[in-house]
Amino acid sequence: MSLASGLPETHQLRPSTPCRATHQDGREWVVCQQVGEHVLGFAFPATQPLGSNDAEQGIARMEAAPSCALTLGAPLSWPESDPLLRALTRQRAREHAALASQARAPFVPGQSKIPPSGKVVGEPEVENLIEASLDLWLTAGRFSDQFEAAIARTFGATRAIAVNSGSSANLVALSTLTSPQLGTRALQPGDEVITAAAGFPTTVNPILQNGLVPVFVDSDLATGNIDPALIEVAISPRTKAIMAAHTLGNPMDMREIMRIARKHGLWVVEDCCDAFGSTLDGQLCGTFGDIGTLSFYPAHHITMGEGGAVFSRDPLLMKIAESFRDWGRDCYCPPGKDNTCGKRFCWKLGQLPEGYDHKYTYSHAGYNLKITDMQAAVGLAQLQRLDGFIARRRANHAALALALRAHGADQHLLLPEVLPGADPSWFGFLMVLKPDAPCTRNALTAYLEQQGIGTRLLFAGNLTRQPYFATQPHGVASPLTQADTLMEQAFWIGIWPGIESAQIDYMARTIAAYLGTAWND
Ligand SMILES: Cc1ncc(COP(=O)(O)O)c(C=O)c1O
Repeated sequence: MSLASGLPETHQLRPSTPCRATHQDGREWVVCQQVGEHVLGFAFPATQPLGSNDAEQGIARMEAAPSCALTLGAPLSWPESDPLLRALTRQRAREHAALASQARAPFVPGQSKIPPSGKVVGEPEVENLIEASLDLWLTAGRFSDQFEAAIARTFGATRAIAVNSGSSANLVALSTLTSPQLGTRALQPGDEVITAAAGFPTTVNPILQNGLVPVFVDSDLATGNIDPALIEVAISPRTKAIMAAHTLGNPMDMREIMRIARKHGLWVVEDCCDAFGSTLDGQLCGTFGDIGTLSFYPAHHITMGEGGAVFSRDPLLMKIAESFRDWGRDCYCPPGKDNTCGKRFCWKLGQLPEGYDHKYTYSHAGYNLKITDMQAAVGLAQLQRLDGFIARRRANHAALALALRAHGADQHLLLPEVLPGADPSWFGFLMVLKPDAPCTRNALTAYLEQQGIGTRLLFAGNLTRQPYFATQPHGVASPLTQADTLMEQAFWIGIWPGIESAQIDYMARTIAAYLGTAWND
């Protein structure tokens, strides 16, 4: 007999329509689901309304009762059923994610692919994503607020703003330095920004996009980073900033870079897109310079699908950064809010009429680079797992270095080196084929790909050789010899948290075997 049969339509238990019920033992129940002749639900104290914690806890201790043991009451009102339906929906989503993660195929050497990068996502991310979706707020909202606050806390920054990619983070960071609000320190068109030639294009493109001139400095082969010894010779009277990335998570020499920057009064932007959690002398990368940036693309330390962040200790820089992110407006109200400044119709700025709505007052030629709350919700769940991810990246990197050395592969490969005091939160494992190696880099990477080992180059290599660069204004401070070597001889493979020790071992053996150094063990 179905519980619902014979009841008036309004009292029928439809799937996912929670109803009040009284158990024959006298307890008040909320019934949630009908399974055959049984009803699933939980007992609750009859005196108080259901809050979200009650719903959560109630669902955790859900019981089944024969339908005939319950006398059905009224369906829950909307505000009361909301936390309950959310908790039920999240629970189902978690179950789905748990099953999906168990379905992962075991690693078969030579057959399974080992991607160079990847994401580790599951129950917490799906749960948050569902929760944000049910809000239907869609644009940046409560999850975005929490995410930005957490990033700011992590870096000891006054503020962090989330943006829709690491590239956007770099664009916002550098655009910020062009604001007239910075007075004589604002970057003017034609000013020079020192950067590394070898790396990712969108570390450099914001320089061009702002009408500034990148001046390229060569890199250090051992770390893959900008060579600090070459920075000072690249400085001219027009030099205003240094903007470079911590290559594959390996900290740049921020001690030296900051010494030079202070001496010459230069801004410093640290692209930490590949270096979330890297430290130098115990200090987080991104906190040495004026502004730091992050990427949350799936290959990165944490992901929200697409996303990035800009952070700084300087409140003025963050106010300007937010303006560039949010259409260039002067107003800093979050989405859905008005009159945060308390003077919405009282401003007199530029040539605008007195009291022109601050919401529509623009102080910069800005963009809209905000994220959605669903992205932020995923990012927030990932942030809680960051420490574990970083530990795994470090352990995998160390294990791979050890295995490659054990198999003698360092005879033909330059393995990554770090500065004294550096503790990288690695993005990938960089190797540079030595000149006397028995094969070319391309032959080696092609072989590794055939063997299921995903490889990547050091992004754009020497950027000045990229097709689009032929027409871009730029300076070259000294020969880009090592950038060329990185372009021609370097590649990297994965050490992301999804990689297991059997895969590390297989990668090291396969590389060493191709180079002819593997032991026959
Ligand atoms: C150093 C560096 N900067 C910036 C970016 C751009 O990040 P996104 O892909 O999120 O735009 C990347 C991308 O991998 C990167 O490696």
